[in-house]
Amino acid sequence: MSLARPFTTPRPESYAFTPPPIKRRAAAHLQLPGGPRPLIPASLLLKFQRDTPAFLLDLRDTYGDSSSFFLAGQLFIGLFSPAMVYEVTTAQQSSFIKGVGFARMRKVLGEGLLTNEEPIHMRHRRMMQPPFQKSRLDGYATLMTDLTASQIGAWNDGEVVLLAPVMMRLTLSIVAETLFGTDALRFADQIGEHMGVAIDRIERTMLPGLDRFDGVPLPYWQKFHESADVLAEIAEELIAERRATYDPTDTSDLLSLLLSLRDEDGSQFTDEEIRDEALTLILSGHETTANMLTWAFSWLAARPDVMAALQQEADVSQWVLDGRAPTLEEAMQAEIAGQVLSESLRMAPPVWVAPRRALSDLDICGVKVPAGAHVLVSQYVTQRDPRWFPDPHNWDPGRWSDDFASTLPRGAYFPFGAGTRKCLGEHFALLEARIILLLAAHQVTWEPADSSRPMPKAEPRATYRAAGAVPIRIHRRTHHV
Ligand code: HEM
Repeated sequence: MSLARPFTTPRPESYAFTPPPIKRRAAAHLQLPGGPRPLIPASLLLKFQRDTPAFLLDLRDTYGDSSSFFLAGQLFIGLFSPAMVYEVTTAQQSSFIKGVGFARMRKVLGEGLLTNEEPIHMRHRRMMQPPFQKSRLDGYATLMTDLTASQIGAWNDGEVVLLAPVMMRLTLSIVAETLFGTDALRFADQIGEHMGVAIDRIERTMLPGLDRFDGVPLPYWQKFHESADVLAEIAEELIAERRATYDPTDTSDLLSLLLSLRDEDGSQFTDEEIRDEALTLILSGHETTANMLTWAFSWLAARPDVMAALQQEADVSQWVLDGRAPTLEEAMQAEIAGQVLSESLRMAPPVWVAPRRALSDLDICGVKVPAGAHVLVSQYVTQRDPRWFPDPHNWDPGRWSDDFASTLPRGAYFPFGAGTRKCLGEHFALLEARIILLLAAHQVTWEPADSSRPMPKAEPRATYRAAGAVPIRIHRRTHHV
């Protein structure tokens, strides 16, 4: 018997009632923060769609920490100061649900952690947290190291490597094999292809009303439904196989662990819940990490001084010299790698916006937010605020030395989100990224394949991606030949 599919399953009834969006006419009496009110609304839509992070940054520069605008006739409020970010993501988080975009993701991820709401969220979060705690991460490092070493080992001296797809593939295999073990291998191409389609179609996010296209018989939209179903089928097949041979003492991969998890009341995940969580981990766990690495590698290619410092650090890391996986503690000791990642996450946060909907009338640091309004806080905007990050458009990993992070007000830097919706995979991602950066730095040096274009352009969609394939030229380091 096949399970209900996320694409066609309605929003669970246990979720909070979502107040309707605020339409332009209804907003006339509200005291809204300032913002653009063009005579031709479509002109704003065009600007928004062309480059949304730049649009939001421009709002902050023009109107300050809060502003409002209408998109597809619905009210959006941008809140950009660290204090406002803290209120929305943490202090008043229960007055918000996840906003536009997440509803589209639900069609692929169902009631997994990224897209679910209360009361389902807290139950799943409690159950899913232990395998991602720091103390459990050492167990994943061997797979991360092995897959990375075989990828980097295959790079030839002088070869041009397409960074973006290579990182995407590497991080996808790491998360898929962490989850399903080697069972995932026979589906690797299909998972890659259909995740790509799903991410692409989800990506036209933040624009209300896209859902109406999903039933339209056009190949572009049909493919979204098809890919969501194929991904569900693959996950269901892997889960059914594992159930058939289930050994409760086997915790060699996350799937076995998910099958054994119990809530405080003794209840377990159903197959449907495991499927949604598995797809959620695969989707949220690879594209973000791949983007972070693609940006970090690109900045390093443009900054030979930082690359040299990173190489020095890699060359004295004991685990690198021993040719083994690091413990989390060993990986976290690498200061330069940490600074490179912190600064890359600041300037190119893979998740660059957190769209929310207000469930009731709220006061956020003096700004009146009416129930139903779309609220945007943005990593991209707040992390480029010169008040907290001097010379904010300059990639400067050195700014993270001397405990700079502890001097920041809460809410100023939140690449992994905050509050109960904070990223589950933060430490997993940082461990993986440090392993990839340090192993690469030890074995190779790299430069932009086209020296006239040292940095890729951004192609901001649901994630803050680099545009194109991002070719780099690899040189093997002599000590390692
Ligand atoms: C550099 C890599 C990553 C970045 C920048 C990132 C960022 C984020 C952010 C900002 C959120 C919160 C979204 C919101 O509040 O609207 C989030 C949630 C989440 N992330 Fe990540 N993530 C990364 C890697 C990962 C990895 C590797 C995994 C899993 C293996 C993962 C799993 C999740 C899950 C399950 C959630 C939902 C948590 C919840 O709501 O309880 N992420 N991530």
